Amino acid sequence: MRNLIDIKDLSIEEIDELIKVAKDIMQNPEKYSEKCKYKKLATLFFEPSTRTRLSFEAAMMELGGNVLGFSEASSSSTSKGESVSDTIKVVGGYCDIIAMRHPKEGAPLVASVHSDVPIINAGDGGHNHPTQTLTDLLTISCENGRLDNLTIGLCGDLKFGRTVHSLISAMSRYKNIKFVLISPDELKIPEYIKEEILDKNNIEYVETNQIEEHMSKLDILYMTRVQKERFFNEEDYLRLKDYYILNNDRLRTAKEKLTIMHPLPRVNEISTEVDSDPRACYFKQAKYGKYIRMALILKLLEIK
Ligand code: NCD
Repeated sequence: MRNLIDIKDLSIEEIDELIKVAKDIMQNPEKYSEKCKYKKLATLFFEPSTRTRLSFEAAMMELGGNVLGFSEASSSSTSKGESVSDTIKVVGGYCDIIAMRHPKEGAPLVASVHSDVPIINAGDGGHNHPTQTLTDLLTISCENGRLDNLTIGLCGDLKFGRTVHSLISAMSRYKNIKFVLISPDELKIPEYIKEEILDKNNIEYVETNQIEEHMSKLDILYMTRVQKERFFNEEDYLRLKDYYILNNDRLRTAKEKLTIMHPLPRVNEISTEVDSDPRACYFKQAKYGKYIRMALILKLLEIK
């Protein structure tokens, strides 16, 4: 039985296959509409979510399956003191696969040890978010036509932004990838990512706090929200939350073929005037998320 806890749980070949299946689903949705008949997905969300949970649920419905679950810890027995491992053992008896989001780093990994059904990490604290990364890879593959030879700017909260951590881990396995890491000093990428991923794989990267400095070189600009819920004090958050606001003026020198991404939700990081720019891909990106999750559910349930 396979789980998806970390994006590295999938080989590059498996990711390529998931992307291929997702593209086929986009072209021929009817072919897949009964693949998960009588199967159930449980979405256990101990933290807020809109896109991830609803796209998982829509994905299972479009595969002909059913969904059950909860969208906040307070409406589950967690509020009575039940442990994650007990919850998982019980829910595994009601469904075939579980997507779980939790504020504690490593909680989905713990869950997978106790589970009889596949566990998908739908975000664990400030750590990882592998299915957002699959979404991002499908987006890049569709919009840029390749996953190698890219210069990727990651901007905003690189410290707590789990989507950034998983995306760096995934992209570092493709050829000739360069990163421009744009953040305020307080929100720089964690050391362990530099040591264990970037340095270890000899990936070229620069760190800067200037968004415009490298704009003209970027093929992808990945904006992120400052992760308010991970801050220890309100003051720091208020000081840093509007550090970068992408607007038309800041895109002046950008490539015509730039892909502007954001995992969403957006707070202030991208001015709404950018939404009508043909390079803005974030709403499309959210849509791609449903198709890649359909492909992932099929893979983990071993349905051809
Ligand atoms: C992201 C997350 O939850 O980490 N959202 C998402 O799943 N699309 C990004 C964020 O919340 O800022």
